[in-house]
Amino acid sequence: MPIKSLIRTVPHYPKQGVMFRDITTLLKDPVGLRVTVNELVHRYTPVKIDRVAGIEARGFIIGAALAYQLGVGFVPIRKQGKLPAETVGHDYDLEYGTDRIEMHVDSVAAGEQVLLVDDLIATGGTAEAACNLIESMGGGIVECCFVIDLPDLGGRRRLENRGQKVFALCEFE
Ligand code: PRP
Ligand code: HPA
Repeated sequence: MPIKSLIRTVPHYPKQGVMFRDITTLLKDPVGLRVTVNELVHRYTPVKIDRVAGIEARGFIIGAALAYQLGVGFVPIRKQGKLPAETVGHDYDLEYGTDRIEMHVDSVAAGEQVLLVDDLIATGGTAEAACNLIESMGGGIVECCFVIDLPDLGGRRRLENRGQKVFALCEFE
């Protein structure tokens, strides 16, 4: 069962001209959810991973299920001001302005191997900032994995250019 067929496209969300790839229709489908997580479990079971890091908000859903199945811990990468204890953060550029993501300082230890998970890669700005953050804590990044890649927006190339391995379950033009 191709998971791509379970992803809904919402035209003009959040603004005119954007075709929003919505995974809620994939997540609500019991087979779709299971196949999505199982494909990633299959890929990463043979790999040495100390922790799964998921990016707010949809990366939490896939990332936590994957971490549970791999038998490793899950750590959240959140938007600014959401984490209660001491954090480290990284600023990154948006089309207009900047944004900041944060992790707890004790969420990754030096030398740990981290798998980065999100639902989708577009420009790659968020994932690149997450990689910078994990590396600033001394963590290594095993791979950056996504349910959806939008290759026309160049995110995969951007991550590969900084030496990252990238994996996505499907692509949309
Ligand atoms: C979306 C998506 C990724 C990011 C990808 O999150 O879930 O995290 O954008 O875009 P990029 O590759 O251009 O950086 P969004 O900013 O919509 O946040 P949310 O998941 O909290 O709604
Ligand atoms: N879906 C979800 N998140 C996104 C998208 C999308 O199509 N584009 C940029 N971030």
